[in-house]
Amino acid sequence: MKISERIEIIKGDITTLRTDAIVNAANNSLLGGGGVDGAIHRAAGPDLLAECRKLKGCPTGAAKITGAYSLQAKYIIHTVGPVWRGGQHGEPQLLAGCYSNSLRIAAENGVRTIAFPSVSTGVYGYPVEKASMIALREIKAFLDLNSTVEKVTVVCFDEVTYSAYKRNYPVIINQ
Ligand code: AR6
Repeated sequence: MKISERIEIIKGDITTLRTDAIVNAANNSLLGGGGVDGAIHRAAGPDLLAECRKLKGCPTGAAKITGAYSLQAKYIIHTVGPVWRGGQHGEPQLLAGCYSNSLRIAAENGVRTIAFPSVSTGVYGYPVEKASMIALREIKAFLDLNSTVEKVTVVCFDEVTYSAYKRNYPVIINQ
């Protein structure tokens, strides 16, 4: 399959996806929060929190996997994006790590289809234009080298996010 067919940008609610894995934009505690994290915990049910407690948190830029309980997906991969502090505090490298580490863990678990939200661009304030370039570049770089993961869907919750990813998609794909 061509790389352009292996990355899809859609608008929607990630909790409804039937991909093998969905990615959660969590915080260091992995014990839930607002935004997409709150939506995922609500939709997955309380057993997710019980499993998350056993993980003892997660460093920024890293990722950890759990079951998906009441969701349609098989797994949830929890990653912790950086809080935007102006861009000179390692934010780009940490955000890139969220995507590369989530995809590596996905491949290690035989995941063939995976959906990401726009990590860090909500509560954590990362500018979506910059974040979308990093996200798409990391996803493409991973897919170029890995054939276990067949398809990556980026699920955008609002129009501004969706249009940024749509606009930058051809820029990255054609590099
Ligand atoms: N499906 C897809 N995307 C969503 C959904 C959804 N159901 N809900 C929100 N988004 P955010 P962050 C979008 O704030 O910036 C939490 O409290 C949202 O519109 O969820 O990484 C955690 O516990 C935005 O485009 O995550 C952390 O404390 C994107 O998901 C903190 O927020 C990310 O926004 C993490 O902040």
